[in-house]
Amino acid sequence: MSFGMSYEAMEKELASRLKDSRFRHCLGVADTAVFLARRFGVDEERARVAGLLHDCAREYRNEDMLEEAQRRGIEIGEVERSMPLLLHAYIGAKRVREVYRVDDAMVEQAIWRHTVGGRGMTKLDKIIWFADMIEPGREYPGVKELRCLAKTASLDEMVLAGLSQSICFVVAKGHLIHPDTVLARNELLLQKNDSNEP
Ligand SMILES: [Fe+2]
Ligand SMILES: [Fe+2]
Repeated sequence: MSFGMSYEAMEKELASRLKDSRFRHCLGVADTAVFLARRFGVDEERARVAGLLHDCAREYRNEDMLEEAQRRGIEIGEVERSMPLLLHAYIGAKRVREVYRVDDAMVEQAIWRHTVGGRGMTKLDKIIWFADMIEPGREYPGVKELRCLAKTASLDEMVLAGLSQSICFVVAKGHLIHPDTVLARNELLLQKNDSNEP
């Protein structure tokens, strides 16, 4: 793990790039990710950096996302092509190295997966994914229940509940569901069912 920039310098750079409300969201995700990292025995520094930088590509305009992704050789599926905003996760994963000089595959992967999830998520992937959903600035029906889970449930239980909720929201809005979100949820559900078998 190598971070070529101090945490303060990363914060400063990010603050200059994002609008204020988004920057505060990133600080909230970083704090929440540290809380979860402590609870689940994950490296706190990685969690803080991944939480802070997870949305570092969020300010590209939708129409620029496709070009920014293509320029970096990122594969663009049909769901991303229809919803280019999703690409901010993959572009952000690349930008942590380009701009913030973070050379860390785990941080990169957690940022890559922070929006749609994926199969075989690491503890850090799950922590960043869930912290993004429950940081203190988030307001939506059901967020209080998810915040309670962050204090009481296992990491897999909370992420499973979050994925189920997220899929319901996306369906209610009439949007496409990314297949990686379905894979992530199925995997956790299958593991849970397996462990419940006598
Ligand atoms: Fe995001
Ligand atoms: Fe976010």
